[in-house]
Amino acid sequence: MTGKIPKYFINELLSLTDIVELIKSRLILKKCGKNYQTHCPFHNEKTPSFTVSYEKQFYYCFGCYAHGNAIDFLINYERLNFIESIEELSIMHGMTIPFENTQDNFFYVKKQKLYLLMNQLCKLYQKNIILDNSANEYLFKRDINNTMISTFLIGFASFNWNIFCKKIHINKKLEEDLLVYNILSINKKGYKYDVFQGRITFPIQDQNGRIIAFGGRSINNFLPKYLNSQETDIFCKRKQIYGLYQVKKKFSKPKYLLVVEGYIDVISLTQYNINYAVSCLGTSITIEHIQILFQNTNTIICCYDGDTAGKNAAWNTLKKALPYISDAKTIKFMLLPNNEDPDTIIRKEGKEKFQIRIDNAITMSNFFFTHMLTNINLSSIDNKFYLSKRALPLINTIASDTIRIYLRQKLARMIGILDDNQFEKFLYEQEIKKIQKPEFYIKRTPMRILIALLIQNPDLAIIAPPIKKLKKIKIKGLYIFLEILQICLDYPKIKTGQILEFYRNTNINNILKMLSRWDHMIVQEEIQNMFLDLLTNIYDKILEERQEYLIAQERTIGLTMTEKKEIWSINKKLSNNKNFSKNNTHNTQKN
Ligand code: UTP
Ligand code: MN
Repeated sequence: MTGKIPKYFINELLSLTDIVELIKSRLILKKCGKNYQTHCPFHNEKTPSFTVSYEKQFYYCFGCYAHGNAIDFLINYERLNFIESIEELSIMHGMTIPFENTQDNFFYVKKQKLYLLMNQLCKLYQKNIILDNSANEYLFKRDINNTMISTFLIGFASFNWNIFCKKIHINKKLEEDLLVYNILSINKKGYKYDVFQGRITFPIQDQNGRIIAFGGRSINNFLPKYLNSQETDIFCKRKQIYGLYQVKKKFSKPKYLLVVEGYIDVISLTQYNINYAVSCLGTSITIEHIQILFQNTNTIICCYDGDTAGKNAAWNTLKKALPYISDAKTIKFMLLPNNEDPDTIIRKEGKEKFQIRIDNAITMSNFFFTHMLTNINLSSIDNKFYLSKRALPLINTIASDTIRIYLRQKLARMIGILDDNQFEKFLYEQEIKKIQKPEFYIKRTPMRILIALLIQNPDLAIIAPPIKKLKKIKIKGLYIFLEILQICLDYPKIKTGQILEFYRNTNINNILKMLSRWDHMIVQEEIQNMFLDLLTNIYDKILEERQEYLIAQERTIGLTMTEKKEIWSINKKLSNNKNFSKNNTHNTQKN
């Protein structure tokens, strides 16, 4: 994947990006000394061990060892691939990616074209809302006000494509594109028609606000009642959440997100000033949806019908969400009376009563046991056994220790284990001992310390003595050191995170990443001296090798005048260096 976007561009993007700001817009960071800290988003923990360094433009978790630069963060947190994360940063900085590879460039251009197309189409549909009486009447009948029409960019796809074209001036090129993406279709008689014809259009926006697809509701109750755009390179249903862009425009960290089923539900709730409603495009909630929702809020409240289908949907959501529940993140459920949806009920009851329903949403643990106990009579031993067999595997998927243990306790009490010893035994038997992997052990060699010091403190590069002649010498790691040194000299203000980017997908990437967060145990004030000392030692080693070679030469075939001068200068340099080292003997390592 890498190599198709020029390295200079990636480096430039990283130098413009502040990893602290990038992460701050997603997590709550607290300043802690020089760095920032928070609870790690990649594992469950009670005390924050996720650290972000402004100086190094790097993040690191002391608990699970997750680490990397801004690109790594986007890849892991937003679940993007490499190119997508570069795209995300480019959007942030308003830059266009200069792809080296024509195929990638083609793909990128195609995606940009699709965004543009969706945008044009949205504008056309929006104009129709004003032009078309039937669309107007429909929205009036559903009591959707003008503010909502403009907030959600609601439009209408008219029945007659040809009239539509004439009114809006669609050119041939646009029409061809629409055919390619199945937005326009041709019927048996050869007439072109809009697949959304006769439908109110609800543009689906990604988190950057770009239009990526449409949902359409028939105004004449033609079937299917709702239609979604087909998936394209920019539209992946399982990852999209309708209305999230609008919520985030109001609140960057909403206190909760209310997940409802329909487009109209989102819009009606917003119209009634419940500004937290989103929808998963009418599909059942996916793991990706849950992850995205939890990235944006601590509490997901899922709103379903109170009938059996609604309860089952809630149960399926709960099962999917269990692994993502933590001490901070929770999911609740709101079950509505039969035959009501948020749209109908808020219009009947008003905002206050609906807010009370939200406030009284069923907690995760209550819903868990209520559902588990449906049709189970706990007076029989068999049923108790059945309950624990069904419930425990699910409880065990919860990552948070506190919540897992709490639910187990609740379960133990339910099945009648009240005696403390017995309870401990019960817990002990069920507890899966989690063994934390120790951090990879790295042997301390002078070259590794040298590289670690340089990656962690790129400014050291300028104090390194000239290096040209050393290039031919075979000392393990020297080549890499010199290469990194050159990178640091070429890009004077480079940060740790940027250096590492040069090595993504190379076979030394892992070791360099490890060195970049390795505790070399050298105190800050001594880093510069230590760096010079180590370098001097390496110089000496090289000079000594050359010295030995020349002495051997002298004994056998004798030396030329130049070689004699060389050996003399080597002797002088070596004795100078020894003196230099002696003067620096205080630069020892902290142990
Ligand atoms: P509902 O059938 O509950 O409709 O579908 P609704 O939201 O109450 O819509 P109105 O009030 O009748 O206009 C809920 C969601 O399921 C998806 C849509 O996303 C819809 O918003 N759906 C429904 C479809 O995708 N296709 C359908 O045919 C019906
Ligand atoms: Mn409805």
